[in-house]
Amino acid sequence: MNKVIAIYPGSFDPPTNGHLDLIARGSKIFDELVVAILRNPEKDPLFSLAERQGMLEALTVDFGNVRVDTFDGLTVDYASQLGAAAVLRGIRALSDYEYELQMALMNRKLRPELETVFMMPSNQYSYLSSHLVREIAHLGGSIKGLVPEMVEEKLREKLDAVLKK
Ligand code: PNS
Repeated sequence: MNKVIAIYPGSFDPPTNGHLDLIARGSKIFDELVVAILRNPEKDPLFSLAERQGMLEALTVDFGNVRVDTFDGLTVDYASQLGAAAVLRGIRALSDYEYELQMALMNRKLRPELETVFMMPSNQYSYLSSHLVREIAHLGGSIKGLVPEMVEEKLREKLDAVLKK
């Protein structure tokens, strides 16, 4: 039987416990899960692509069927190159639904054979986003429990370096 490959695309700036929760869920239902970081030169990310890739690789090392990659261009084209059957996305709250539905339906228009699979993270992460984590860290709030310890340390280093400038 063919193995079912899924991609989990995103910015992951930085990876949060919500992302990891979704990776764990996705790795249970797909044969192979590729965490795909968008290379987007238009955005000005806090963490470089290499830093995000390094963090995600370290954080997913214990999942035998998860690997991390980067991509640019259309998600559907990247999925096609890998022979992926599905795109995994997380839905946290109703507010995510409109944007995610629009993206899923547009991706279906572009490549009808590619399915989008939505999964819900654990309740405790339903209000969590990379954007809020960056903002809280930047303003000196605690992000304990929201991101893995490794990400917490890297955020602290990064913001210390920014503040010293
Ligand atoms: O973590 P994010 O920023 O919510 O992820 C958004 C992402 C990377 C999934 C989306 O921007 C994307 O798929 N970009 C690639 C370009 C593309 O395919 N655009 C058309 C989407 S319908």
